[in-house]
This record gives sequence, C-alpha cells and structure tokens, in this order.
Amino acid sequence: MPARDETGMTQQLPATDDLEQIAARVDAAVAAVAGLEPAAQTVALELKQAIEAFHKLALTTMVRHLKHDPRGKELLLELVADPAVYAMLLMHGIVRADPITRARRVLDSARPYMQSHGGDAELIDVRDGVAYLRLHGSCNGCSLSAFTLRKHVEEVLLREVPEITRLEVVNDQPAPAMLRAEAQTHPDPAKGWVQGPAVTAVPPGQMISFTTDQTSVLIVNLENRLSAYRNACAHQGRPLDGGVLDPANGTLTCPWHGFCFDVTSGECLTAPQAQLEPFPLRVVDGMIWVRPL
Ligand code: FES
Repeated sequence: MPARDETGMTQQLPATDDLEQIAARVDAAVAAVAGLEPAAQTVALELKQAIEAFHKLALTTMVRHLKHDPRGKELLLELVADPAVYAMLLMHGIVRADPITRARRVLDSARPYMQSHGGDAELIDVRDGVAYLRLHGSCNGCSLSAFTLRKHVEEVLLREVPEITRLEVVNDQPAPAMLRAEAQTHPDPAKGWVQGPAVTAVPPGQMISFTTDQTSVLIVNLENRLSAYRNACAHQGRPLDGGVLDPANGTLTCPWHGFCFDVTSGECLTAPQAQLEPFPLRVVDGMIWVRPL
C-alpha cells in the first residue's frame, strides 16, 4: 500500500534494491491474497498475471534484440550475471539453466528414490549429448535392482533434459581430470601431451598456471583432486589465476567481474550457460601432464 503523508497525499515507498527484501514483499503479498475473498483473489491474481505477461513481453523483446547484436550479446551475458536479472529472466522462462545444472536437479529429485533402494548416482559431466555418471551402492553392479535403478535414472534424465541422448557410466573412481594413480602409459608429446609442474607445486587448496607454446593452463588442487582448465574465464576470456579459490565450497571466483565456477566440473554458478574448458590431466613420476585440446 502506498504511504500517505500528513496532508493525505500518497507517497512513493522508498525503492529497495535488496533482492531478498523484494522477494519477501512478493511472498507476503501472495500470502495476503490467499486470505482474500474468492472474488478479490481472482482480481488480484488476474492483475499479477497481467503484469507478469507485460514484463515477459518487454523482456523477451529486449533479449531478442540484444542477442542479434554482438555487443548486445556481451552485455546480455553481463546482465545475466546479476542475480536479480537472472532470477527475473529465469522466472519468465527466458533463460534456461544449462544441461549440467538441469541434470543435477533431476538427479537430486530422483535421489530419494535411489537412496530408498540403497543406491546413488553422481553426475560427472554432460558432453555432446552424453551424461557421464558415477554410480554408487545398489545402483552399481549387475543385479536386477541395479539395472532397475539405472533404468529409472536414465528415463528421468532423458525425459527431463532433452539435450541428453544417452548415459555413460564411469568407474566408481575419481573423475578423469582428478588426481589418480600414476598413469600406466607415459603421455605422448606427439599426441599433444605437455608436461606441467610437479604435483608438489600445487598443494591442496591451491592453484597454479603455466603456459605451453600456445595455451595458458590452470591447475587446481581441491583436496588432492587435480583439475586442469584453460586459464581463461568463460565470461570474457581473461586469466583466472588471480582469482579466489575457496576450497571449502569448491569454487573459484574470477578476479575480473566475479563470475563463480565449480572447480571440479568447471560449471559456472553465476551464468549457467558459461563453462570453463577442461583439459585431460595425468600424473606421471610426480609430474603433471595435460593435453590442451
Ligand atoms: S572475465 Fe568477466 S567474470 Fe571473468
């Protein structure tokens, strides 16, 4: 309700730029509407829907125009990094979370069922239409129940994330880009493998960058699990090695504009369509080898 001053004139309430406060106001208003008479509820909901439709129309037009201009695309990416803008676009279905994020959500919703049968599944990556999963407990193995659980996971993932066309189960071991037992075969430089720093140069909770002939590579050690990425932010390609690594949360925050990444998957937690570029990594004789693609 607009406030009134002593003259009885209505005054604009002070605008708040705090997303949580605004969300709380919306929630409170929606709860208040639920307590109205049915006729008043209908009017209030119609007003809400009409305003939302108006916003969606204008936002869709703005995004469409921005997408058709290279400078606009850049600006759009910056705008989507803002939590309020992202929440608004997501609410209107104008942006969608990326397939990895959606697949994670689907797995989260399937988890109670899996766990009630003693199993679990962990999404490692989604690439070229393939979801890579690691299975645990009774999801793993050759039993009928393992088959049934895998089938269930496959069905929900393919149905809810159309970009995924098949699943691939990886060994119940650390992911390929993580520190693992010394590789059996020596990386072949003729096949693009490049020797980087010694493992001891990247203690747990730290990162280091090094440069090959053409590529700057970032190595991150999270609890003795090594990951290699192109040392370039998915936002504007600027170096990430001056960023802030938060081992407790497993995140890396870009020093330039604050995009935040999951360091084990490279997934951007700020702008879901962005992703760090991972490189294969091996450890041989205590040395880190990577293959910049
Ligand atoms: S370059 Fe802009 S957030 Fe990283």
